[in-house]
Amino acid sequence: MKTNDATVLEEPKTRKRATEETIEPAIESRPRPTTGVREAKIYIDGKFCSEVDAKVSVFDHGLLYGDGIFEGIRFYNGRVFRLEEHLERLWDSARSICLEIPMTRQEMTEALIETIRQNHLQDGYIRLLVTRGVGNLGLNPEQCKNPSVIIIAATIALYHEDFYRKGLSIVTVATRRSNPASLNPAVKSLNYLNNVMARIEANLAHADEALMLNDAGNVAECTADNVFIIKDSQIFTPPITAGALRGITRSVVFDIAGEFDLEVTEADFTRHDIFVADECFLTGTAAEIVPVVKADGRLIGNGKPGPITTRIIARFREMTRETGTPIFD
Ligand SMILES: Cc1ncc(COP(=O)(O)O)c(C=O)c1O
Repeated sequence: MKTNDATVLEEPKTRKRATEETIEPAIESRPRPTTGVREAKIYIDGKFCSEVDAKVSVFDHGLLYGDGIFEGIRFYNGRVFRLEEHLERLWDSARSICLEIPMTRQEMTEALIETIRQNHLQDGYIRLLVTRGVGNLGLNPEQCKNPSVIIIAATIALYHEDFYRKGLSIVTVATRRSNPASLNPAVKSLNYLNNVMARIEANLAHADEALMLNDAGNVAECTADNVFIIKDSQIFTPPITAGALRGITRSVVFDIAGEFDLEVTEADFTRHDIFVADECFLTGTAAEIVPVVKADGRLIGNGKPGPITTRIIARFREMTRETGTPIFD
């Protein structure tokens, strides 16, 4: 069964479950030709163009070297969810790689909201990129005088509801999360080859997502999601220093846990801790909050999404519908 059209490129692909009705991934790994929007308008450096005209130079260092940064942002019910946090992280990524974003945060907010308006969407996904811009074939970023800003608004279909009800299976992959001393995973850069390699391993293993460890053998994160486990009503997630992105959805879970009087501890843990956890879930802007029920063939807890995870998902859904920066006011 297929849900409606979706365009997000890096999220988990789901395998067919032999005993169940076939469920296609709603958030696809396969590139699709469109944003899912009729007569889509894509923002490039202050101008809106159609999908066919939305092109960048082959000399852009974003293409040549993955030299740039990005954000994936969701909007629900006519409001952009956690927009300020996403822009904060974008600016942090830019600072870290010495990239000057060629506009103010206010201008970026307006451009982003205008892009959603131009595409007449109430619910969807934004891909916001800042590339180093056009240079020559050498990698020296000093050649690139004008960074480019690209904003793409797309429709998005979530995983089929069954995945939230029944949970995902993950496998630990051999590809390690890049060491913070080389390319720091806290920078949301256009260079996602580390994650892509892990994703390929998950695909080959017919798993829904790849669990990535760091060089110390501790859990870092999945290819596009942060990881949480729950043991004896205590919630744990790897610290940023373990090689996890400072996920915006991750921070929402901290807020929700606070409302529920539950403690979240940022702590190093191993895959053993996942095997013996009562509950496990992943968080990400595209995937939202999704339970994990199997890791490396072991059932987690009783193999069903746990009660705390289920409560957190319900509260998260309320927050996405009720909070955010208004698009049409
Ligand atoms: C590597 C990685 N980890 C974690 C996340 C989750 O972060 P967020 O909740 O901000 O989308 C993402 C998604 O952006 C990601 O790409």
